[in-house]
Amino acid sequence: MRVKYLFVSAAVALASLTACQSNSGGSDAEMDKFIDNLMGEMTLHEKIGQLNLPVTGEIVTGQAKSSDVAEKIKKGEVGGLFNLKGVEKIREVQRVAVEESRLKIPLIFGMDVIHGYETVFPIPLALSCSWDMAAIEKSAQIAAKEASADGICWTFSPMVDICRDARWGRMSEGSGEDPFLGSAIAKAMVKGYQGDNLQDSTTIMACVKHFALYGAPEAGRDYNTVDMSRIAMYNYYFSPYKAAVEAGVGSAMSSFNVVDGIPATANKWLMTDVLRNQWGFDGFVVTDYTAISEMIDHGMGDLQQVSALALKAGIDMDMVADGFIGTLEKSLQEGKITEEDIDKACRRILEAKYKLGLFENPYKYCNVDRPKNDIFTAENRAAARDIAAETFVLLKNEGNLLPLQRKGRIALIGPLADTKANMPGTWSVAAVSERYKSLYEGMKDAVGDKGEVLYAKGCNLCYDATLEANATMFGREMRDPRSPQQLTAEALGVAQRADVIVFAGGESSEFSGESSSRSNIDLPDAQLDLLKALKKTGKPIVMLNFAGRSTVMNWENDNLPAILQVWFGGSEAADAICDVLFGDKVPSGKLTTSFPKAVGQLPLYYNYLNTGRPAGKWFSKYRSNYLDVDNEPLYPFGYGLSYTTFTYGDLTLSSDVMEPSATITATVKVTNTGNYDAAEVVQLYIRDMVGSISRPVKELKGFERIFLKKGESRDVTFEINADLLKFYNSSLEYVCEPGEFRVMVGCDSKNVQTKTFTLKE
Ligand code: BGC
Repeated sequence: MRVKYLFVSAAVALASLTACQSNSGGSDAEMDKFIDNLMGEMTLHEKIGQLNLPVTGEIVTGQAKSSDVAEKIKKGEVGGLFNLKGVEKIREVQRVAVEESRLKIPLIFGMDVIHGYETVFPIPLALSCSWDMAAIEKSAQIAAKEASADGICWTFSPMVDICRDARWGRMSEGSGEDPFLGSAIAKAMVKGYQGDNLQDSTTIMACVKHFALYGAPEAGRDYNTVDMSRIAMYNYYFSPYKAAVEAGVGSAMSSFNVVDGIPATANKWLMTDVLRNQWGFDGFVVTDYTAISEMIDHGMGDLQQVSALALKAGIDMDMVADGFIGTLEKSLQEGKITEEDIDKACRRILEAKYKLGLFENPYKYCNVDRPKNDIFTAENRAAARDIAAETFVLLKNEGNLLPLQRKGRIALIGPLADTKANMPGTWSVAAVSERYKSLYEGMKDAVGDKGEVLYAKGCNLCYDATLEANATMFGREMRDPRSPQQLTAEALGVAQRADVIVFAGGESSEFSGESSSRSNIDLPDAQLDLLKALKKTGKPIVMLNFAGRSTVMNWENDNLPAILQVWFGGSEAADAICDVLFGDKVPSGKLTTSFPKAVGQLPLYYNYLNTGRPAGKWFSKYRSNYLDVDNEPLYPFGYGLSYTTFTYGDLTLSSDVMEPSATITATVKVTNTGNYDAAEVVQLYIRDMVGSISRPVKELKGFERIFLKKGESRDVTFEINADLLKFYNSSLEYVCEPGEFRVMVGCDSKNVQTKTFTLKE
């Protein structure tokens, strides 16, 4: 008998299952039969209980907390719990569910494992800048292994919301502005978390979020209104969610915003017509945190009404709102919903538990011996350090100031230089930052006795203490009580004694992430003033820009010789930054979000429509431009320098005509012409010159990350077929239209070579 749970759940009438039948890993028919039997035993109240997801109160990520959770579990009123950390605690709660509730149905335990567990990987925006799908998949796989060792079987990741507006703080949690790259990453993440088989106790169920369009709030303000055409939804914003579904993601999370005027959580078109009927999603849908009760403020009715709307729309699980558990019975009595609606949702939750193998063994993820072997291991940390180095983007390196040599005196200055808590970045709820190195510690280790590292904080994050307090929550405080004058004086003293200054500044961890929108995305005032003072010393300055979004860096670009964008690199950030600073590794990251010259350019993205009055280089009356800034980003999508140089040979196309059923290839020879072995990300963009709807000036349609030793060359080839040329037309049909296409290949979205071909009828 493999089904241990069958013994303990005597109350469940499973007579029709023979002893040798497994209740997981079996066929769909076996699963259906198992669930039919189980549901046959369930009261209405117990069925609704499965749809209830309270929070434990340990790690709170929203406005409300749940109460009396243990009592509710005993009464069969809870389907799962989230953000409870520690395998022993989870085991105990699971014990209550499978020993003290009537039907002994196991709970599902979720957590926001967004970019790693205790081994923290770089924030997702950073990860996307590696363009390294294998490494990203591995990061999710390691996260799953660590989380599952600690009792977690479900993660609220990947977050795949496309974002074109850096004011939105949650840009940090996604993969930037591009749907093609975002889709590839969505697939890699789902594969990494779920593996090929959820039966394995080292894999966990993924949850694609936030469905949908959460990354496009008006004015970049979190939770704000989204108003978007279906053309834009289908062509740009939907792709990564759909890709996650195609990769077999087990669950999805509804978003807080409205879609077509209806909150996503009550939007039947979105949750049922698109997600299930058009895309074939067969997992379950959980709401975001209190998204059901928030619909009262959206003006959709009282708790009973909005709960019924959510269930009818296709939501299966209610996160924290107590809307389902509190009102669905009444709605059923009043005929506002049917028992079938409840059954459908309950079945999907039970299916997820079945697929995870929890009926077979509710303690499958509760092996108390696993944490010490599987969490924060040297191997996992080495992987995190490696990928972190791939995510840094070298924005400027005048006179090859970088890499630095390990010699002389290095002045490490800035508010991010000596703060362990701000290394992992936002949404690192399982992080144990006391175990991580601050950059100062990492740099002392990296330099050893070959040189001297001097340190001064130099300034606070910003002058405004309230703003700083809001941007350094969750134990990430770093305010220094000294006055700006005292801090500057100390920094200048340190700088004077040094050969080179490394400035570690930018944003704190919580300056981006949820509820961290900014209306001004410049380097905060105190830091800019400090940099200006440091510049006057005449010493060369390397800026390490920590940030969870693209920021405005005009002064920095004009005045500093070297800038390395380091995002938030995770638990191993300090060592990884030093690997790149001192040239043990060569930077290869490429931006996945355009860096604006002014916040007023937002939303800013490379795949824009040309308009009828495209801008020229300079301001021109009656063109689509600004009086006070041009339309160009400071650093474009796809951009990133290296310590070496790459030379691109001529782009060739295998043919300048293409039959719809055929393929053509675009080839370019790339040569490493510099002095370091290094990786390069070669990018393919395509423009559809004439369409039945206006088409973007270019769209990413391929990329390859290659590694070339110095002097080495390689032909990089992209295959172009009709599928790659398809888009959703105004009837939302996915088509490609014959005519001329422009193929562009290069090292970023601006620096490309161009060839054209014609797609035949
Ligand atoms: C966030 C989600 C997160 C959830 C649970 C919400 O506030 O929007 O991304 O998964 O909380 O912590």
